[in-house]
Amino acid sequence: MAKITILGSGGFGLSLAVMCSRAGHDVTVWSKFQDEIDTIKRTGELKSKLPGVIVPENVRLTTDVSLVKGSDMVILGIPSAFCRKVCEEAKPYIGKDSIIVNTAKGLEPGTLKLMSEVTDESFPENRTAILSGPSHAEEIGRGIPTTIVVASEDRDVSYYVQNTLSNKTFRIYVNDDIVGCEIGGSLKNIIALAAGVCDGLGLGDNTKAALMTRGLTEIARIGMAMGAQRSTFSGLSGIGDLIVTCTSMHSRNRRAGILIGQGVAPDEAVRRVGTVEGYECTKNAYELSKKLGIEMPITEQLYGVLFGGVLPKDSIITLMSRPTKNETEDGFLGR
Ligand SMILES: NC(=O)c1ccc[n+]([C@@H]2O[C@H](COP(=O)([O-])OP(=O)(O)OC[C@H]3O[C@@H](n4cnc5c(N)ncnc54)[C@H](O)[C@@H]3O)[C@@H](O)[C@H]2O)c1
Repeated sequence: MAKITILGSGGFGLSLAVMCSRAGHDVTVWSKFQDEIDTIKRTGELKSKLPGVIVPENVRLTTDVSLVKGSDMVILGIPSAFCRKVCEEAKPYIGKDSIIVNTAKGLEPGTLKLMSEVTDESFPENRTAILSGPSHAEEIGRGIPTTIVVASEDRDVSYYVQNTLSNKTFRIYVNDDIVGCEIGGSLKNIIALAAGVCDGLGLGDNTKAALMTRGLTEIARIGMAMGAQRSTFSGLSGIGDLIVTCTSMHSRNRRAGILIGQGVAPDEAVRRVGTVEGYECTKNAYELSKKLGIEMPITEQLYGVLFGGVLPKDSIITLMSRPTKNETEDGFLGR
């Protein structure tokens, strides 16, 4: 049994709490927001984030971040934009023996850093890891078989996380490519938003397949420029996460995209759906692609739709009118 503290009582944090508690661990969930904790205590669940999943009574619920003290493992389930702030808040109470696991998918606004960098900078004395892969909270919370990857600078940490969190419904693979796992997990949200836009426009399966395949190509292209391994993009945090996000109605990115394709203004679509990390991530990845000089045509078009007033149907025409090229000339499918 491990003492695990989960920071963040949103959908993902709670789904992990439920799973870890079922597996017999000592689990504490912290939220910055009193109303989240009060609602779970009162009703047993947080309908606004993870409806229908009851949090077991033996999960400790708190807004007191000092309770993180003495944890074997601290799991961050906070949207990427707020991760650094939460790390700073929790830091005074986290000993150097705690292993910090970040599950956020996204780049840090402004710095464009990976979440592993944010975690490492916040906790330079701790051993850290990230989780990535196809893992809807709604399904983890219901015990539906799920597979993900753990990546860390330190293989022993990966094995520890793998052994501690794996169970009959949750299977963790080790992957040493932190950059690849994070870039796959973060940038797939952009493609999921774009896939939703195509659905909202009423386009077909051909279009969706094209978007996912060429989307993975541009994700891999920037990932490899940052040092990722090509093979990671064929794995759970690459194609795996892309499939689950682009095809499921659990995906808030895809749901926001559908609204945008149907004519709802992008900021209004995000307001209606809630946490839509692909929105910020499109801006961040667009900036990163310009900084690194990497071509990302789908990201660039979605950026135009979200922030530049480009009409979704015009962005599709632009993508289809690009100069023809060899499919394998660079990136994921190239040499
Ligand atoms: N939902 C999923 O299926 C899923 C799967 C894999 C990874 N993730 C990642 O987990 C992270 C959290 O996602 P989620 O789905 O749980 O989001 P969510 O919107 O359901 O919940 C986020 C939670 O984070 C906390 N939070 C939000 N803003 C905060 C702030 N300013 N300061 C402190 N705490 C704050 C709150 O407790 C909130 O409930 C994201 O980065 C997401 O990419 C989610």
